[in-house]
Amino acid sequence: DPIPVLTIDGPSGSGKGTISRLVAQRLGWHYLDSGALYRAVGVAAGWADLDLDDAGALVRCTFDTDIGFRESAEGDLRVLVNGHDATDELRTETAGAAASAIAAIPEVRAALKDRQRAFRRAPGLVADGRDMGTVIFPDAPFKVFLTASAAERADRRYKQLKDKGVSVTMDGLLREILARDARDASRTVAPLRPAEGAVHIDTTGLGIDAVVERVLAVVAP
Ligand code: C5P
Repeated sequence: DPIPVLTIDGPSGSGKGTISRLVAQRLGWHYLDSGALYRAVGVAAGWADLDLDDAGALVRCTFDTDIGFRESAEGDLRVLVNGHDATDELRTETAGAAASAIAAIPEVRAALKDRQRAFRRAPGLVADGRDMGTVIFPDAPFKVFLTASAAERADRRYKQLKDKGVSVTMDGLLREILARDARDASRTVAPLRPAEGAVHIDTTGLGIDAVVERVLAVVAP
Protein backbone atom coordinates (compact mmCIF):
# COMPACT_ATOMS: atom_id res chain seq x y z
CA ASP A 1 0.00 0.00 0.00
CA PRO A 2 1.23 3.56 -0.63
CA ILE A 3 2.38 5.50 2.43
CA PRO A 4 -0.60 7.46 3.81
CA VAL A 5 -0.65 11.27 3.76
CA LEU A 6 -2.93 13.66 5.63
CA THR A 7 -2.96 17.05 3.90
CA ILE A 8 -3.91 20.13 5.93
CA ASP A 9 -4.39 23.24 3.81
CA GLY A 10 -5.80 26.63 4.67
CA PRO A 11 -5.10 30.34 4.98
CA SER A 12 -2.53 31.79 7.38
CA GLY A 13 -3.87 32.13 10.90
CA SER A 14 -6.20 29.16 10.57
CA GLY A 15 -4.04 27.30 13.11
CA LYS A 16 -2.63 24.85 10.56
CA GLY A 17 0.91 24.82 11.93
CA THR A 18 0.00 24.10 15.54
CA ILE A 19 -2.69 21.58 14.63
CA SER A 20 -0.57 19.75 12.04
CA ARG A 21 2.34 19.32 14.45
CA LEU A 22 0.09 17.96 17.21
CA VAL A 23 -1.75 15.61 14.86
CA ALA A 24 1.56 14.30 13.48
CA GLN A 25 2.73 13.66 17.05
CA ARG A 26 -0.47 11.81 17.94
CA LEU A 27 -0.27 9.64 14.81
CA GLY A 28 3.49 9.12 15.08
CA TRP A 29 3.79 10.35 11.49
CA HIS A 30 6.34 12.64 9.86
CA TYR A 31 5.54 16.33 9.46
CA LEU A 32 6.08 18.65 6.50
CA ASP A 33 5.88 22.42 7.05
CA SER A 34 5.83 23.39 3.37
CA GLY A 35 5.63 27.11 4.16
CA ALA A 36 9.05 26.77 5.80
CA LEU A 37 10.54 25.79 2.42
CA TYR A 38 9.22 28.97 0.78
CA ARG A 39 10.32 31.00 3.79
CA ALA A 40 13.79 29.37 3.66
CA VAL A 41 14.22 30.43 0.04
CA GLY A 42 13.01 33.89 1.05
CA VAL A 43 15.66 34.08 3.77
CA ALA A 44 18.40 32.81 1.44
CA ALA A 45 17.35 35.39 -1.16
CA GLY A 46 17.63 38.07 1.53
CA TRP A 47 21.12 36.91 2.54
CA ALA A 48 22.16 37.06 -1.13
CA ASP A 49 20.56 40.50 -1.42
CA LEU A 50 18.43 39.37 -4.38
CA ASP A 51 15.75 41.55 -5.91
CA LEU A 52 12.28 40.06 -5.28
CA ASP A 53 11.33 41.09 -8.84
CA ASP A 54 14.17 39.07 -10.40
CA ALA A 55 12.39 35.74 -11.01
CA GLY A 56 15.42 34.18 -12.73
CA ALA A 57 17.71 34.86 -9.78
CA LEU A 58 15.08 33.57 -7.35
CA VAL A 59 14.67 30.34 -9.31
CA ARG A 60 18.46 29.80 -9.28
CA CYS A 61 18.48 30.60 -5.57
CA THR A 62 15.80 27.92 -5.01
CA PHE A 63 17.97 25.27 -6.69
CA ASP A 64 21.09 26.42 -4.81
CA THR A 65 19.57 26.61 -1.34
CA ASP A 66 20.10 23.66 0.94
CA ILE A 67 17.20 23.29 3.39
CA GLY A 68 17.42 20.88 6.32
CA PHE A 69 15.15 20.06 9.23
CA ARG A 70 16.45 18.87 12.55
CA GLU A 71 14.95 18.26 15.95
CA SER A 72 16.70 20.15 18.75
CA ALA A 73 17.60 18.61 22.12
CA GLU A 74 14.45 20.30 23.50
CA GLY A 75 12.37 18.55 20.88
CA ASP A 76 11.44 21.55 18.72
CA LEU A 77 11.96 21.57 14.98
CA ARG A 78 14.88 23.67 13.73
CA VAL A 79 15.30 24.70 10.10
CA LEU A 80 18.78 24.91 8.62
CA VAL A 81 19.32 27.11 5.56
CA ASN A 82 22.65 26.38 3.89
CA GLY A 83 23.76 24.85 7.18
CA HIS A 84 22.79 27.85 9.37
CA ASP A 85 19.98 27.62 11.92
CA ALA A 86 17.45 30.10 10.48
CA THR A 87 14.40 29.00 12.52
CA ASP A 88 13.82 32.37 14.18
CA GLU A 89 14.51 34.42 11.08
CA LEU A 90 12.05 32.24 9.17
CA ARG A 91 9.15 33.40 11.35
CA THR A 92 9.68 37.14 10.72
CA GLU A 93 7.27 39.23 8.65
CA THR A 94 10.10 39.96 6.22
CA ALA A 95 10.62 36.24 5.53
CA GLY A 96 6.85 35.73 5.21
CA ALA A 97 6.47 38.54 2.72
CA ALA A 98 9.46 37.28 0.70
CA ALA A 99 8.03 33.74 0.79
CA SER A 100 4.68 34.92 -0.49
CA ALA A 101 6.31 36.79 -3.41
CA ILE A 102 8.60 33.86 -4.25
CA ALA A 103 5.72 31.36 -4.00
CA ALA A 104 4.01 33.07 -6.94
CA ILE A 105 6.81 32.00 -9.34
CA PRO A 106 5.82 28.75 -11.11
CA GLU A 107 9.43 27.52 -11.57
CA VAL A 108 10.08 27.94 -7.85
CA ARG A 109 7.01 25.85 -7.02
CA ALA A 110 8.10 23.21 -9.53
CA ALA A 111 11.62 23.13 -8.10
CA LEU A 112 10.27 22.49 -4.60
CA LYS A 113 7.84 19.74 -5.64
CA ASP A 114 10.17 16.76 -5.31
CA ARG A 115 11.68 18.07 -2.09
CA GLN A 116 8.20 18.13 -0.59
CA ARG A 117 7.27 14.69 -1.89
CA ALA A 118 10.46 13.25 -0.36
CA PHE A 119 8.89 13.78 3.07
CA ARG A 120 6.47 10.93 2.36
CA ARG A 121 8.05 8.20 4.44
CA ALA A 122 6.63 5.34 6.49
CA PRO A 123 4.58 5.17 8.57
CA GLY A 124 2.88 8.32 7.22
CA LEU A 125 3.02 12.08 6.67
CA VAL A 126 1.06 15.12 7.82
CA ALA A 127 1.61 17.84 5.18
CA ASP A 128 0.77 21.45 6.07
CA GLY A 129 0.42 24.20 3.45
CA ARG A 130 -1.72 25.78 0.75
CA ASP A 131 -1.58 23.22 -2.08
CA MET A 132 -0.78 19.95 -0.28
CA GLY A 133 -4.08 18.29 -1.25
CA THR A 134 -4.42 19.91 -4.67
CA VAL A 135 -0.91 19.81 -6.20
CA ILE A 136 1.74 18.07 -4.09
CA PHE A 137 -0.18 15.03 -2.78
CA PRO A 138 -3.34 14.86 -4.91
CA ASP A 139 -3.56 11.12 -4.18
CA ALA A 140 -3.55 11.63 -0.38
CA PRO A 141 -6.24 9.49 1.23
CA PHE A 142 -6.96 12.11 3.93
CA LYS A 143 -7.51 15.81 3.21
CA VAL A 144 -8.52 18.65 5.51
CA PHE A 145 -9.21 22.31 4.77
CA LEU A 146 -8.90 24.46 7.89
CA THR A 147 -10.46 27.89 8.07
CA ALA A 148 -11.32 30.52 10.67
CA SER A 149 -13.06 33.85 10.31
CA ALA A 150 -10.77 36.72 9.30
CA ALA A 151 -11.61 38.45 12.60
CA GLU A 152 -10.51 35.41 14.61
CA ARG A 153 -7.31 35.01 12.60
CA ALA A 154 -6.49 38.71 13.15
CA ASP A 155 -7.20 38.24 16.84
CA ARG A 156 -4.83 35.23 17.12
CA ARG A 157 -2.11 37.10 15.26
CA TYR A 158 -2.65 40.14 17.49
CA LYS A 159 -2.09 38.05 20.62
CA GLN A 160 1.02 36.38 19.15
CA LEU A 161 2.56 39.72 18.24
CA LYS A 162 1.62 41.33 21.55
CA ASP A 163 3.35 38.46 23.39
CA LYS A 164 6.44 39.25 21.35
CA GLY A 165 6.16 42.92 22.26
CA VAL A 166 5.37 44.06 18.72
CA SER A 167 2.86 46.89 18.60
CA VAL A 168 0.15 46.61 15.92
CA THR A 169 -3.49 47.57 15.54
CA MET A 170 -6.33 45.06 15.06
CA ASP A 171 -7.55 47.14 12.16
CA GLY A 172 -4.24 47.02 10.32
CA LEU A 173 -3.89 43.28 10.94
CA LEU A 174 -7.37 42.54 9.65
CA ARG A 175 -6.70 44.52 6.49
CA GLU A 176 -3.37 42.69 6.01
CA ILE A 177 -5.02 39.29 6.43
CA LEU A 178 -7.77 40.08 3.93
CA ALA A 179 -5.18 41.31 1.42
CA ARG A 180 -3.04 38.17 1.86
CA ASP A 181 -6.15 35.94 1.47
CA ALA A 182 -7.07 37.69 -1.76
CA ARG A 183 -3.51 37.35 -3.08
CA ASP A 184 -3.16 33.67 -2.15
CA ALA A 185 -6.58 32.79 -3.63
CA SER A 186 -6.20 34.75 -6.87
CA ARG A 187 -2.65 33.88 -7.97
CA THR A 188 -2.60 31.85 -11.16
CA VAL A 189 -0.25 29.14 -9.91
CA ALA A 190 -1.53 26.86 -7.14
CA PRO A 191 -4.12 29.27 -5.72
CA LEU A 192 -5.39 28.51 -2.24
CA ARG A 193 -8.53 26.45 -2.63
CA PRO A 194 -9.90 23.33 -0.94
CA ALA A 195 -8.91 20.02 -2.56
CA GLU A 196 -11.71 17.90 -3.92
CA GLY A 197 -13.04 15.74 -1.13
CA ALA A 198 -11.33 17.75 1.61
CA VAL A 199 -13.10 17.83 4.96
CA HIS A 200 -13.72 21.49 5.91
CA ILE A 201 -13.15 22.39 9.53
CA ASP A 202 -13.95 25.92 10.71
CA THR A 203 -11.84 26.53 13.80
CA THR A 204 -13.55 29.81 14.77
CA GLY A 205 -14.32 29.59 18.48
CA LEU A 206 -12.77 26.11 18.85
CA GLY A 207 -9.88 25.29 21.18
CA ILE A 208 -6.75 23.51 19.94
CA ASP A 209 -7.71 20.15 21.48
CA ALA A 210 -11.15 20.18 19.86
CA VAL A 211 -9.63 20.86 16.44
CA VAL A 212 -7.00 18.13 16.89
CA GLU A 213 -9.75 15.60 17.71
CA ARG A 214 -11.75 16.59 14.63
CA VAL A 215 -8.74 16.24 12.38
CA LEU A 216 -7.79 12.86 13.90
CA ALA A 217 -11.35 11.70 13.22
CA VAL A 218 -10.71 12.24 9.50
CA VAL A 219 -7.88 9.68 9.59
CA ALA A 220 -9.54 7.18 11.92
CA PRO A 221 -13.28 7.81 11.82
O1 C5P B 1 2.39 28.94 5.87
P1 C5P B 1 3.38 30.05 5.86
O2 C5P B 1 2.83 31.36 6.37
O3 C5P B 1 4.66 29.69 6.53
O4 C5P B 1 3.73 30.28 4.31
C1 C5P B 1 4.46 31.39 3.87
C2 C5P B 1 4.05 31.75 2.44
O5 C5P B 1 4.45 30.70 1.56
C3 C5P B 1 2.52 31.88 2.27
O6 C5P B 1 2.09 33.21 2.36
C4 C5P B 1 2.26 31.35 0.89
O7 C5P B 1 2.24 32.40 -0.06
C5 C5P B 1 3.45 30.45 0.58
N1 C5P B 1 3.12 29.03 0.59
C6 C5P B 1 2.67 28.46 -0.58
N2 C5P B 1 2.41 27.13 -0.65
C7 C5P B 1 2.57 26.34 0.42
C8 C5P B 1 3.01 26.90 1.64
C9 C5P B 1 3.28 28.25 1.69
O8 C5P B 1 2.49 29.16 -1.56
N3 C5P B 1 2.33 25.03 0.31
